[in-house]
Amino acid sequence: MDDSDDQRKHGLSRRGLLKRAGLGAAAATLLDRIGMLQQTFADELRADTRQAGSPIDDSPLDGAPFSGLHLAYSLDPSVTYLNHASIGTIPRAIQRSHARYLELCEQNPWLYMWGGAWEGPRESIRAKAAHFLGCTAEDVTFSHNTTETFNLLAQGLPLGPGDEVLVPNLNHSGASVCFELQAERRGYTVRRFDLGWDDATDVNRTLERYAEAVGARTRLLVLPHVDNTVGLRHPVAAVAQEARRRGVEFIAIDAAQTVGMIPIDVSALGVDAYATSPHKWLQAPKGLGLSYLGSALREALQPMWMTWGQQRWQGSARRFEDYGTRNLAAVLALGDALDFHGRLDPAARVAHHRRLHAHAYARTQEIPRLAWRSPADFDQGGALYAIDVDGQPARSLAQALFTEHGIVTRGFEHPGWHAIRLSPNLANTTADLDRFFDAVRGSGEPS
Ligand SMILES: Cc1ncc(COP(=O)(O)O)c(C=O)c1O
Repeated sequence: MDDSDDQRKHGLSRRGLLKRAGLGAAAATLLDRIGMLQQTFADELRADTRQAGSPIDDSPLDGAPFSGLHLAYSLDPSVTYLNHASIGTIPRAIQRSHARYLELCEQNPWLYMWGGAWEGPRESIRAKAAHFLGCTAEDVTFSHNTTETFNLLAQGLPLGPGDEVLVPNLNHSGASVCFELQAERRGYTVRRFDLGWDDATDVNRTLERYAEAVGARTRLLVLPHVDNTVGLRHPVAAVAQEARRRGVEFIAIDAAQTVGMIPIDVSALGVDAYATSPHKWLQAPKGLGLSYLGSALREALQPMWMTWGQQRWQGSARRFEDYGTRNLAAVLALGDALDFHGRLDPAARVAHHRRLHAHAYARTQEIPRLAWRSPADFDQGGALYAIDVDGQPARSLAQALFTEHGIVTRGFEHPGWHAIRLSPNLANTTADLDRFFDAVRGSGEPS
């Protein structure tokens, strides 16, 4: 049986699949296992979080702190993990379900990877992701990460001589470098404008800066929703509206730092692309990306990966996925990560982040050698914030915090601007933040 035989099977009903594959009861059992594994995940998640004393259960949260939730993760007890904006952590229940999907796959790799058995589950997870983002399943594509989606745009959008791609200085390299490196070959230009490090914490000033920066040749505007440095919540809907008014055709958002952190309704943002890396805040396996690609952009975009799915998925965002062998077990585990979030009351999740933000802000004000470099108002920022420690070089300070205290943060250094970024997630508590503040309270290096 060659690949094209397999591909024709994609999308068949379970019965049709079995019949075409000439499989009997044993295969039926293998196919049914996915539902059983999903149920096992749900049961384990409930058991883990109950044991941890966390309120994740059948009933939504009521605003209580997520106390004890760290027990539902595998973090080393000697580590205070405050760097989810770089690399997220996954609850044990999701780790185990991911491992079970991998194990099931090895019972009959062809059936799961090419035989179509996981076609239905993959599509139901696409629908689940669409619901989470506020779009339709047709708009959702599974990339490998945020960087890949911006590479897709840099290679596939009809940009050429005379066109300009505009990015703010707070744009992450994963959403910038691909344009810079393609520009010369394709004949377009990339212009980076300065939001200013301090201005960037003022959302109104930021909107003005975007409006001023858009030029007559700007065809694509790329910006972060919450940037990874100061954690400003860029006013995406207002920026998009203003940019369109000024003639910008495409607007692409780097959402690596929002999905799973704050509620998202992509349909209300008026943008063409919205790309995230679900390992950060959604707590899904690493190496899997999730993006919204709007219909107007889809029509204009050339795929980066070209193989059999091009005709079949014409018109849908699925056309822009890599059709080689994929890690479908990770996609299934993304479904479990979405279910994990589905069990949280979104308002309670925001309340948790708001509480940690307020605590970190208050402690920063108490300690004279610290300066807060992020929005003071959580609703203009997010669950990541930058703190200047006496103007000290931040990378060596972050290293010392880790080696001397087991505190994992991220140091940023820009001309005249140094900061340690804290990015706590659901399992963190104010006590974790206090460990950081106690370590940097003294003078000189952390003690
Ligand atoms: C804002 C932002 N965009 C893009 C990326 C790149 O993510 P990935 O390596 O998963 O593509 C990151 C990673 O930290 C980020 O913070």
